[in-house]
Amino acid sequence: MFNKIIRPRRLRISENMRALVRETNLSVKDLVYPIFVVPGKNVREEISSMPNCYHLSVDNAVELAKKISALGIPAVEIFGLPEYKDEIGSGAWDMNSPVQCAISAIKKAVPELLIVGDVCLCQYTSHGHCGKLCGNYVDNDETLKLLQNVAVSQAQAGADIIAPSDMMDGRVAAIRAALDENNFSNVVIMSYAVKYASGFYGPFRDAADSAPQFGDRKQYQMDYANSREALKEVFLDISEGADIIMVKPALAYLDIVSKVRAEINNPVAVYNVSGEYAMVKAAAQNGWIDEKRIVLESLTSMKRAGADIIITYHALDAANWL
Ligand code: PBG
Repeated sequence: MFNKIIRPRRLRISENMRALVRETNLSVKDLVYPIFVVPGKNVREEISSMPNCYHLSVDNAVELAKKISALGIPAVEIFGLPEYKDEIGSGAWDMNSPVQCAISAIKKAVPELLIVGDVCLCQYTSHGHCGKLCGNYVDNDETLKLLQNVAVSQAQAGADIIAPSDMMDGRVAAIRAALDENNFSNVVIMSYAVKYASGFYGPFRDAADSAPQFGDRKQYQMDYANSREALKEVFLDISEGADIIMVKPALAYLDIVSKVRAEINNPVAVYNVSGEYAMVKAAAQNGWIDEKRIVLESLTSMKRAGADIIITYHALDAANWL
């Protein structure tokens, strides 16, 4: 009767055997590294809630971009803190803002490195919401016009990929039209199609000084209790012209990643966000977990769920480990 035992352990017998049958392989080519640019020169200040992530002036961002590219990471995503904020976030499309300057300087220094521009207004508005206000409500259609300005200005600076993260309705179509009209028909749109109103963005809002000054983002970002609605958002964005679909955050939403993967043929990206990063860093600093193991296991789980692209603050470490 014992010779009837089926033995899955045979295929786990050695590292080479496991490698031979491994279903998912994490590669440095899957990763996108987010960077935060600030005004000034020679600035390099650690972000307190995101250990080993820095506020960088454009000159230092360029130096980091060279290192990122040398490690084989194919893309960076640029976030910025502006010199000024106003009611409509006009710093977001100012060609002299840190983001636009960083995009063009990095493109010049490391032309092969892909640059993703995050298109949103919350870092640039005095009230911290992701669009133009009408009373306490973010006016959807008025905001679309502003987002078009941001997308075109980033493409002008040299962005290869435009990533709208504002969650206004119709923004992908509006941005696609504006890019095409301005001769940027080859600029890719990676839509934050499924972006939940999440507590995991906390450290980023400190880093980007983008917390809403009143209320929250629940009137535009998604309710984390919903998953059918995720597919609705995905299909809308694809029909409006999105090339790549993103789910955000990552770890608490791998069921969503897997559902989206099963339904579409576009590449799927996940954003392993600031709160997810901060939790790993804090536990690692306390010696409670083995950081390398946890990071590689988590990133692999995102791929296993169906992601092709992982935007992560762990990208530099992961690239060194892989
Ligand atoms: C801008 C934006 C946010 C993040 C990316 N783009 C914050 C937010 O929506 O409040 C979060 C990224 C992270 O937490 O790492 N809207």
